[in-house]
Amino acid sequence: MHIDIISVLPELLTSPFEHSIMKRARDKGLLQVAVHPLRKWAVNEYGQIDDYQYGGGAGMVMMCEPLAAAITELSANRKFDAIIYVTPDGKTLNQRMANTLSLKENLLIICGHYKGIDERIRQKYVTIEISIGDYVLSGGELAAAVLVDSIGRLLPGVLSDETSALTDSFQDNLLAPPVYTRPVDFEGMLVPDVLMSGNHAKIEEWRYEQALQRTKERRPDLMID
Ligand code: 6GU
Repeated sequence: MHIDIISVLPELLTSPFEHSIMKRARDKGLLQVAVHPLRKWAVNEYGQIDDYQYGGGAGMVMMCEPLAAAITELSANRKFDAIIYVTPDGKTLNQRMANTLSLKENLLIICGHYKGIDERIRQKYVTIEISIGDYVLSGGELAAAVLVDSIGRLLPGVLSDETSALTDSFQDNLLAPPVYTRPVDFEGMLVPDVLMSGNHAKIEEWRYEQALQRTKERRPDLMID
């Protein structure tokens, strides 16, 4: 999978993909992430990419021309399966969306800043608008990093234990069950007997029950759809 990201703050998007699972995905050639500084397509020598909003009001708006030029240039190199704008008024990201996006080959992500991007860019180019939750971030970069992480770890071959994404929380609309490691006795708190029974059928049954109970208590909303 190849992901292009357009950003006014490309520095925010280096570290998230240089460690752990995202690093492994890139090292294995399963995921390429290219971050493109929007100022490369600025409208003048001062690097301008934003302007005052029509109708007045505080806050700048990201201009059409730099974004249109960036999208056009990047689209000449790849046929994007989706052009994503990360924005608080988008559809809230969930595991199903991450699963769907992980099946694509080429994605373009646009990070907004200030008051956001000119509405006409959304109408003309953007195919999906995604939010990562009901709270406001200073810009789209951290949201883009979250989105790319959620997608990248699902690419076949990225996780060493192929089954491990399948047992994550949300993958079956259930939260994950509790987990334990050594020691058996931590200050009087014991690991449940069943986990040391060696009976794999019983262990699976216990885990499923725990996941069910946890989801009922904490996130009953997940069990509706
Ligand atoms: Cl995608 N962007 C910003 N700026 N804030 C957010 C968000 C995105 N998702 C949730 N909050």
